[in-house]
Amino acid sequence: MTHKPLLAVLKGERQAVPPVWMMRQAGRYLAEYREVRAQAGSFLNLCFNPALAAEVTLQPIRRFGFDGAILFSDILVIPHALGQSVTFEAGEGPRLDPLPDRASLSRLSADLDPATTEPIYETVRLVKAALPAETTFLGFCGAPFTVASYMVAGKGGDDQEAARLFAYRDPDGFGALIDQLVKASITYLIGQFRAGVDAVQIFDSWASVLPDHELERWSIQPIRSIVDGVRAAVPDAPIIVFAKGVGTRLKRVALATRADAVGVDAAADLAWVAREVQPHAAVQGPIDPMALLAGGRALDEAVDLALEAFAGGRYIFNLGHGITPPTPVAHVEQMLRRVRG
Ligand code: CP3
Repeated sequence: MTHKPLLAVLKGERQAVPPVWMMRQAGRYLAEYREVRAQAGSFLNLCFNPALAAEVTLQPIRRFGFDGAILFSDILVIPHALGQSVTFEAGEGPRLDPLPDRASLSRLSADLDPATTEPIYETVRLVKAALPAETTFLGFCGAPFTVASYMVAGKGGDDQEAARLFAYRDPDGFGALIDQLVKASITYLIGQFRAGVDAVQIFDSWASVLPDHELERWSIQPIRSIVDGVRAAVPDAPIIVFAKGVGTRLKRVALATRADAVGVDAAADLAWVAREVQPHAAVQGPIDPMALLAGGRALDEAVDLALEAFAGGRYIFNLGHGITPPTPVAHVEQMLRRVRG
């Protein structure tokens, strides 16, 4: 059996040198990505072209030898597969046809369109065939709250006000949308496992905006339902949950979702996470993408503090959020040398 260090951490084994990957590791900071991206035309064309999507998934593995490869796609493929129009405007981020209330939800189809998901599964098969044996292959989806927040507002970036308002005004209606996303996400992640991923990450990038009771209802419980639904079909499926910015509620996220690992963002109290969370789940993070962009001593210090806090337990080295486009490749190399020695 080949040894995959990242998968081993998810299955409960500490590694002397923590496995490393980066959120958004396939992206605009790489010249080779920008070239393929230009060839594809639009971002969604790239997501739905299996040969090109597989190529950009593999680029950061070839260049840096990361321990994890993450499927190249986007969390907004699910709304697209449910019949909502999704476009990406250059420099503006995603734009969707907004669904601000219960009546508008009737515009969605009940099930995922296989014409949308099949190219993604084909990307998984192509990457799987080309990946080094020691590299863990990660699939993903967005968590229901984060995906719903884009679906309701039609865009991101305003503290997800439209989704929070919808949920307060009509909890049953918002709950129906969340339930639909839970069901779609289970189908989609099972499809990714069947096509060949080793583990999956669920991204709740906007969990931070939710008050406690709402976090429980719209983030933690739906993620737990996805975890249970996926593991009913794929026993012991390894799952990473990234609920960004939840502070001390991260312990509840780890315990209640039954995640094998939880993401730790850059603002977390590392000593608290090591003491209260790491005994229950592996931890992944927490390098500030701005420290990576800055490089030099700031980056060395961030790496050292993370290793000091987490390397004694089950740990996956990563950023606290995605790498930003202006980041020099040399800073990524500096970070890797510091982690791997
Ligand atoms: O390398 C990887 O991490 C895998 C691919 C991946 C992308 N998006 C590619 C992408 C993953 C895992 C995502 C997740 C995603 N997408 C999230 C959750 C994680 C997070 O960052 O919080 C969210 C909220 C989205 C929605 C989304 N997609 C936004 C808000 C944007 C615009 C912001 C931007 O950087 O332009 C995207 C576009 C996007 N997704 C790009 C990439 C590489 C950039 C588009 C381009 O190349 O033109």
